[in-house]
Amino acid sequence: MNEKLNAIKEEALRQIHAADTPDRLNEVRIAFLGKKGELTAVLKGMKDVDPKDRPLIGQMVNETRAQIELALEETKKGMERALQEAKLKEEVIDVTLPAKKNNVGHRHPNTIALEEVERIFIGMGYEVVEGPEIEYDAYNFEKLNIPKGHPARDEQDTFYISDNILLRTQTSSVQARIMEQGKLPIRVISPGRVFRSDEVDATHSPSFYQIEGLVVDKNITFADLKGTLEVFAKELFGENTRTKFRPHHFPFTEPSAEVDVSCFKCGGKGCRFCKGEGWIEILGCGMVHPHVFEMCGIDPKEYTGFAFGVGLERIALLKYEIDDMRLLYENDMRFLKQF
Ligand code: DAH
Repeated sequence: MNEKLNAIKEEALRQIHAADTPDRLNEVRIAFLGKKGELTAVLKGMKDVDPKDRPLIGQMVNETRAQIELALEETKKGMERALQEAKLKEEVIDVTLPAKKNNVGHRHPNTIALEEVERIFIGMGYEVVEGPEIEYDAYNFEKLNIPKGHPARDEQDTFYISDNILLRTQTSSVQARIMEQGKLPIRVISPGRVFRSDEVDATHSPSFYQIEGLVVDKNITFADLKGTLEVFAKELFGENTRTKFRPHHFPFTEPSAEVDVSCFKCGGKGCRFCKGEGWIEILGCGMVHPHVFEMCGIDPKEYTGFAFGVGLERIALLKYEIDDMRLLYENDMRFLKQF
């Protein structure tokens, strides 16, 4: 019996040492120690053994079982250790490698310019309001004194959604919306996106941004308009900036003007930047037309007001000396990183 058990043990140990995977090791365990395993078969054969020999043989079987179990356990631990080491080797981190750089973004030049304009007007007590980009013909044109068939519509051809709904061509549409609400006095600026069916070139785009301004109160005069825009120009382009009001025509203001600022590059002498003019045009403005007041439910005998409209890109191009508007929309990191 002893020899038989020894032979079983030897064979078990041989197979255990030959096993190369945990699965194979499990097969060996089942083959020797399982219910139908070789060692179990020996125990089952005990009924044929002389009863007085049984305790001794039982003990021997148990010892053999213990030795096989020990070998299985140790081999299994060895395999796990090897696996763990291989895994660690694979996941090794080289702490001397340079780190991946996180690129931190920053504000777009348009946004920087807009925040600057907002800061100036908020400082003068204005509120910033917004209006919809998809707008009724009534707010974009009719209530601004631009009825159907008016020639001013030609300059502001746009994208129509229906006969009455379009992509707004100017933030002036917000003027009508605010006045209609009837809360007086009014002192607002309204920045936003506008659309026109223009071809793309260095100074045109089918979509760009404007900032509208509107003040309505009792006794507002052209002097208030001039003073306000003068402060604005000085804050934006520097203390020595001078302003010039040139008569112009806008259907919704009367009188109307275009405003030029003295060239902040040459101080007005004339240079390449101002194309030898000494002056640079920056916005349109005027006193709110009495008929516009009437259409928006405000009594023009009691109230007066002024309005202005600035092109945001124009401000950004001037302030940062960018010579092509397209650069603002191309998202070229080499360009954007400069601001
Ligand atoms: N909305 C005009 C445009 O797009 C600009 C403008 C001119 C706005 C005069 C005004 C204004 O508020 O008073 O050309």
